[in-house]
Formats: sequence, structure tokens, C-alpha cells
Amino acid sequence: MTENPPRPLVLLVSGPNLDLLGQREPEIYGPETLADHVERASAAAARLGLSLEHVQSNHEGDLIEAIHHARGRAAAIVVNAGALTHTSWSLHDALAAFEGVVVELHLSNPAGREPFRHTSVIAPVADGLVAGFGGLGYELAIEAVRRLLDGGDAAPGAERGAADKT
Ligand code: DQA
Repeated sequence: MTENPPRPLVLLVSGPNLDLLGQREPEIYGPETLADHVERASAAAARLGLSLEHVQSNHEGDLIEAIHHARGRAAAIVVNAGALTHTSWSLHDALAAFEGVVVELHLSNPAGREPFRHTSVIAPVADGLVAGFGGLGYELAIEAVRRLLDGGDAAPGAERGAADKT
């Protein structure tokens, strides 16, 4: 009997208020629930030979602990940090200490919304950003992870954290 090689793990991190998706401002975030998005990401992961764990919290510290726990265990993190995207240097630092692929994800396109959403403090420690595609973004983020893990698809000079590390 041949053993299947272990599937690389992707940790999907969902920040504050994303537990209210489906009820919360559906005109911006759509009618799907967070469970719908996780299911979509899990299906994409399975199709692409990846395994997926999901964590949602409304508490910054819980998200940081989850990112610490991914160190040495997960190959990639896909993170929709909600409004912590725009404020949390602690999340930035936790992601900087994670050695794998990091994809920042948003349902909406924060760059086209209120000015306070135009800054992402996570962007400097992410390999790239998927934003503005609603639920499709969860699938696209997993596809991006697969391609980055396979190598050869990173943009030239797009080394994660290049601007952030000395
Ligand atoms: C969001 C965008 C953030 O600005 C906002 O605070 C959210 C959701 C998105 O998925 O579009 O909570 O991350």
C-alpha cells in the first residue's frame, strides 16, 4: 500500500465581524455567510491538494496566537483581518514571524472605499492581495497559494517583507 504524501496546510484567518457575514452590510459584503466562504476555500484547497484550517475571532490576541501556532506547521496563511487590517501592527508582526506564504484577502475593495481603509498594515508582510471579488476571492486566494508553493509564479522582486525587513 502506498502512502499519500501529506497535503500542505493553509490556515485561513478571519478577523472581527466576519462572523456576521450574511447579515452585516450585505450590499457591501454579499449575502453569503462565513461558513459559505470557508466551504468554498476548503473545496478549492481539496481540489488543489491542500488541506485547510479556519479560525475566526473578534479578538486580536486570539488571531495572533493562531498565527503563532501556524509557525512550522502551515505552508501558507490566507488572512482577511477585517478592520484590523488597517490598524493592527501586532498582526503585522505576527505575520512577519511566519515563514510561509501570506495572502491578504478582502471581500470588498478597500482601496475604493473610505480613506481609513486605504492603508493596510498587513500588506508589507503579505506576498500579495486578493480584494474586491466577493466570495470568489476565497477561491482565488487558495489558487494563489498553490501557485506560490509550486514556485515560478512570484512577481520579480516581490519577496515577502522585502520592504519590511532589514
Ligand atoms: C474587509 C474590509 C475591511 O475594511 C472591513 O473592516 C471588513 C471586511 C473585507 O473583506 O472587505 O471587516 O476586510
